[in-house]
Amino acid sequence: MKREQWGSRTGFILAAVGSAVGLGNIWRFPYMAYENGGGAFFIPYLFAMLTAGIPFMILEFTLGHKYRSGAPKTLRALNNKFEWLGWFQVMISAMIAFYYVVVIAWAISYAYFAFTQAWGEDSNAFFFGEFLGVADDSAPSKLGSLQWHLLLPLCLAWAATYFATYRGVKGGIERINKILMPLLFVMVLLLIGRIIFLPGALNGINWLLEPDFSKIWDLKVWSAAYGQIFFTLSVGFAIMLSYASYLPEKSDINNNAFMTVLMNCGFSMLAGIMIFGALGYMAQAQGKDLTDVVSSGVGLAFVTLPTAINLLPAPGIMGPLFFCALMFAGISSHISIAEAVTTGLMDKLGWSRPKTATVFCSVGLVVSSLYITQGGILLLDLVDYFINNIALLGSCLVELLLVGWLCRLSDFKAHANRLSEFSIGLWWTVCIKFVSVGILLIILSNNIKTAFSENYGGYSNFEVNTLGWGVLALMLVLAVVINLNSKQEVRS
Ligand code: PHE
Ligand code: NA
Repeated sequence: MKREQWGSRTGFILAAVGSAVGLGNIWRFPYMAYENGGGAFFIPYLFAMLTAGIPFMILEFTLGHKYRSGAPKTLRALNNKFEWLGWFQVMISAMIAFYYVVVIAWAISYAYFAFTQAWGEDSNAFFFGEFLGVADDSAPSKLGSLQWHLLLPLCLAWAATYFATYRGVKGGIERINKILMPLLFVMVLLLIGRIIFLPGALNGINWLLEPDFSKIWDLKVWSAAYGQIFFTLSVGFAIMLSYASYLPEKSDINNNAFMTVLMNCGFSMLAGIMIFGALGYMAQAQGKDLTDVVSSGVGLAFVTLPTAINLLPAPGIMGPLFFCALMFAGISSHISIAEAVTTGLMDKLGWSRPKTATVFCSVGLVVSSLYITQGGILLLDLVDYFINNIALLGSCLVELLLVGWLCRLSDFKAHANRLSEFSIGLWWTVCIKFVSVGILLIILSNNIKTAFSENYGGYSNFEVNTLGWGVLALMLVLAVVINLNSKQEVRS
């Protein structure tokens, strides 16, 4: 059977941008830029983009395009001892898919709450207490009863991903992204257009952009920039590679990679302006300093911004708009994570797409319901920490080592250049083999050291060792076992 294909170049780019632009652009990037030198952060950030983001994106697009399969089969085609890495990446994607969807479910609920600001005056107590049911004695290993009100939003979030992965590349994924991405962009522009005219908003944006050049010499800032680039572009764990495996024969790989990266980073800037505009307004309205209101992650999206929305004019419009934007950014990323798993399984096991999508999304719904129990957010937090800080970066590093050092990198360069408008040269090879590898080594060893020296989030030894390290070890062992048992296939 002929492999599915994207319907158009725009469709592919929108899907790739949809994957890259996610919750991280909205709740991670702005804070990170603010914390790490404001306007001056753009220097390490642009540097990271040019030396790691774009080269890695080109590599993933090339591998997917050249071997026309998901990560396990592609890596096996390179060398049958590499296949485990593909499965490890697929497992990372699956693990992320199981909890990322929960945040989308929260966003769906909050989009609904936002019509009436149902979170009330104390958005913190509402979110953790009433909404998630976290109790004083909640812990990652001690989950309470299912929060039934979250089941419907969770099913809705899975339904969107199920539709996309079931219908396939052109009729599902491309179609959804062609609607969601332009809408997301317009919604963010509308939000910015209103927010910047609020008193204090420009102060907030100034806080974000004001450069602190002294930070440039701080190694932590550089490692933050690189860490953010790998995360924000969703490279290194099977996702972009899977999307690229559906590219038509004639595809401008280098150009597509540049556009995807630039659009993702452009969107991050817009999100930064939106968030800091809102925070600046909030600080002024409450007579506080920005440092008292600035936050990131779950706290920013579900505690700080609901309070800011209470203070906005027309909160019943701005609120739903913001949470729908969060939802759309999340759904398009979640689809790509699920597709990485779907493609990997389909290509390796020879299952049909409908069967694969149905099995994966059903299993996913069951597993993810763990996270909508009382205290489930703590489990989510712990798993996310280990996946993001250790597994993901480890997978990026090993991919670069295997592909960059043990394969003929020049073959991939030639493949990328063959159809591309502009060619990549020595800088690409240097960035893949040395710059990215070196930086990843530094960041990863640092993260591992930190994870060993202190229990993340104050969770117990038992929890960190089982739910953190234990899960990672299990994934690794499983991946190796699959690799060892993989039958020698006849190359077609
Ligand atoms: N790149 C996405 C973001 O910035 C995050 C993401 C993580 C996407 C995992 C896919 C998979 O939010
Ligand atoms: Na991103």
